[in-house]
Amino acid sequence: MTTSDIRQKYLEFFARHGHKIISSASLVPENDPTTLFTGSGMQPMVPYLLGEAHPDGTRIVDSQKCFRSQDIEEVGDNRHTTFFEMLGNWSLGDYFKKEQVSWMFEFLTKEIGLDPTRLYVTVFRGNDQIGRDEETVGYWKEAFGAVGIDAKDVDFSERDGMQSGRIFYYGEKKNWWSRSGVPSNMPLGEPGGPDTEMFWDLGSDRKLHESSVFASQPCHVNCDCGRFIEIGNNVFMQYRKTETGFELLPKQNVDFGGGLERMAAAVNDNPDMFTIDLFDGARKVVETISHQPYSSDLSNNPSTYSFRVILDHLRAATFLIADGVLPSNKDQGYYVRRLIRRAVRFGNKIGAKDAFCGLVASAYVETYKDAYPELVAKQDLIISELTKEEAKFKTSLEKGLREFEKLFAKSSAVSGVDAFNLYQSYGFPWELTEELAREKGQVVDRNVFQSEFKKHQDLSRAGSEQKFTGGLADHSTEVVRLHTATHMLHQALRTVLGTHVFQRGSNITAERLRFDFSHPDKMTLEQIQKVEEIVNTNIGRALPVHFEILDLDTAKSRGAIGVFDDKYAELGGKIKVYFIGDKATGEYESKEVCGGPHVENTRELQRFHIIKEEPVAAGIRRIKAVVGVPTPSS
Ligand code: ALA
Repeated sequence: MTTSDIRQKYLEFFARHGHKIISSASLVPENDPTTLFTGSGMQPMVPYLLGEAHPDGTRIVDSQKCFRSQDIEEVGDNRHTTFFEMLGNWSLGDYFKKEQVSWMFEFLTKEIGLDPTRLYVTVFRGNDQIGRDEETVGYWKEAFGAVGIDAKDVDFSERDGMQSGRIFYYGEKKNWWSRSGVPSNMPLGEPGGPDTEMFWDLGSDRKLHESSVFASQPCHVNCDCGRFIEIGNNVFMQYRKTETGFELLPKQNVDFGGGLERMAAAVNDNPDMFTIDLFDGARKVVETISHQPYSSDLSNNPSTYSFRVILDHLRAATFLIADGVLPSNKDQGYYVRRLIRRAVRFGNKIGAKDAFCGLVASAYVETYKDAYPELVAKQDLIISELTKEEAKFKTSLEKGLREFEKLFAKSSAVSGVDAFNLYQSYGFPWELTEELAREKGQVVDRNVFQSEFKKHQDLSRAGSEQKFTGGLADHSTEVVRLHTATHMLHQALRTVLGTHVFQRGSNITAERLRFDFSHPDKMTLEQIQKVEEIVNTNIGRALPVHFEILDLDTAKSRGAIGVFDDKYAELGGKIKVYFIGDKATGEYESKEVCGGPHVENTRELQRFHIIKEEPVAAGIRRIKAVVGVPTPSS
């Protein structure tokens, strides 16, 4: 069974159970200021999990592209990747625990044929506010029982071992899910809930216990020794964090997420994800450019690590560029740059002489062309960006080398601080500095390098935490107001500048909106004032805002603007259109395709003010604007 077969079987299985198949959202979240990347299937679903009506109903299924930047350094073992596809099915206040457990069991054991004797599950042990999830345990017992397996539930396996159990209780760290982890980390308003996870046993003969730090620890499914692989997580998204603890959401939801590649590894009974079919084409390219075969055995072959980094990083970069993220020093672009640079460096290590990033990317485009046609559409851009960045980094590497030689000539030594500066200024990796120093009979102080590195990391982490708390969580009202303001601005720009104006990007924080749009020239002061005036007049008119769920043709014929994703056309599905204006007269100031949420009445915006108009790229301008406080003109 290929990975594409598994994807298809999953989508069709849930479609048979009344789910609407939707296509993957972009890796860059639209209108979600809380995060840089889509890192799980539920992220684009948050408004609906919180209670908004989804245009496709209450049962949804998809395979979502995900990127987890925090896993960049984890890549190298047999199962971590930064990019992956997450299979997801959602009940938006529809079915709940019973159906989810029984469907999942049926899907895993019948549809993709996993042997149930090698499946294990975990459930929430409970905490001081929420009880142990006995209900889910009961459904698992039924499912296993129906195939003749007596599934025993066991607590504290992390302390006492598996005790012949099949169902294991764990606490908040393992069996509670929210975007920000355990309950105490969740910002107010954030949804979360207990979950039940499924594990595949790759076999005790594969465990590394004897040879590793795990040897002295009890065997249990959530251990990292490599024997068990998590293949899916059913989250019962039923709570929302409040000042005093948790309250039930208006609706009880299911959020299932399962790693497609991990399922493929389980189906093939192969612990090395990098050998599943999705990597075949790209792996062959890396074998060719490095003149060596890939080996799954990391302990015997140092090249294995490099292969995995290259395969993972260039796949992620390929998908990110296709979603519009180009290498740069800022925000999302920084990660694409880092991915490419790491790939080039590890390519260097395994003897790649010529440029290879474009070749690997082409192999991925070929592999994914049916499931993700956007890769084909963006192929030229992907290859040219990768090739440019690769060449540029090679130059930086050379500069770094020269700098290293200079430092060394000056003091016959390279300090930990020097190593960090080389890393900071030239992207010159620690390992390289260390290697070069070693060749000259020197040892660089790794502790100093690491403490410099940590200082830097703490700074950037502080930045991203701020970004999180500044987002939807604490200021959802501000964000929603700016979201509505964005629609009004979009329309006003089209009125003042012309209908060539289209949205090219949007980003909202609690403080401001940022709107990128197509327009060739700098706006004049007069044009800016005119746009402000139109928006403020419409705020003053206290116009109601409502949405309608329409089919694509109706939406277009009614003049709705916005990003009409191909996915809608493809699925013949319906879309949500927000109208600003009086329903009774049918005279609208804005009609735009959008998932929401929005304010109910434009008067909630109080006042609209443009604070900046600037270029972003050829033919694209950017506006930053605020609402609320009547701001003195800048
Ligand atoms: N949202 C859950 C996860 O990402 C399913 O694990």
